[in-house]
Amino acid sequence: MTLGKPLTKAVIPAAGLGTRFLPATKAMPKEMLPVVDQPAIQYVVEEAVNAGLSDLLMITGRQKRALEDHFDREPNLERALEAKGDFDRLEAVQHASGLGPLHFVRQGDPKGLGHAVLCARQHVGDEPFAVLLGDDLIDERDQLLRSMIEVQARTGGSVVALIEVDPAQISAYGCADVSAVDGEDHVRVNGLVEKPSVADAPSNLAVIGRYVLHPAVFDVLEDTPPGRGGEIKLTDALQTLATSDGEGGGVYGVIFKGRRYDTGDKLSYLKAVISIASERVDFGEDLKTWMKAFVS
Ligand code: UTP
Repeated sequence: MTLGKPLTKAVIPAAGLGTRFLPATKAMPKEMLPVVDQPAIQYVVEEAVNAGLSDLLMITGRQKRALEDHFDREPNLERALEAKGDFDRLEAVQHASGLGPLHFVRQGDPKGLGHAVLCARQHVGDEPFAVLLGDDLIDERDQLLRSMIEVQARTGGSVVALIEVDPAQISAYGCADVSAVDGEDHVRVNGLVEKPSVADAPSNLAVIGRYVLHPAVFDVLEDTPPGRGGEIKLTDALQTLATSDGEGGGVYGVIFKGRRYDTGDKLSYLKAVISIASERVDFGEDLKTWMKAFVS
């Protein structure tokens, strides 16, 4: 592995079935659902670019066209906006295609997040890389990914992002058993349990959709058998790495206390849209005034 090289690669899995959003996601990937006026996936791509990642690989599946088209040039539309003198919208349209270059690989069958990450193996090669899921939007004012990249460089292992949740909610998440690391802000992850019952949960620390992984994860994923639902789980591979002291062994956690918007299910998605919309300078105040009147 090349040591000391800055981390440049981001993998963005977007090949899931999005069943929680059916029927909206019947003919459209859930990552294309709009959050105010841009698709969720664009916030994620912008976050990766803002964290200094320049080599972006999206894992797509069925209906990949909308994802590819969104980040591509659209000359007819651009010409029409230019002819109308609508330069603000022209800039917004061009911004999305200027984020790249983006690479795409198809997952084929959506056999789980672990399998989606494995599809990135050839592109990523033998270097650490970030994984960003479109379900979680991290406010651009918070620098989660940069902290995770630093922890990966210092520890040489893999890094997960954790948030503290109400203990009663932990069974909706992957949960981490952690211990403090002397003199450091990050924690050591001793083990991970996917969606534990409240009684079995080792903590109230939930794994969210940002990872910085050592390439050792690929060999582990190759050997990880499918779990419940026939899916290869990234959590299972991380559990193996957490207890390994070989090269790339060890999993660490960055506890995130910033602003995160969950878009993974309908209610959280609506809350995310309203939170983000209410901070918009162009209509946030109007929206808040309307919401107060609506609620009363
Ligand atoms: P989720 O489990 O949240 O996505 O996976 P999903 O399967 O699309 O959603 P539901 O539960 O059916 O509603 C987290 C991320 O991993 C990607 C998804 O696209 C999402 O961004 N993913 C998941 C893949 O790329 N491939 C898979 O096989 C599974």
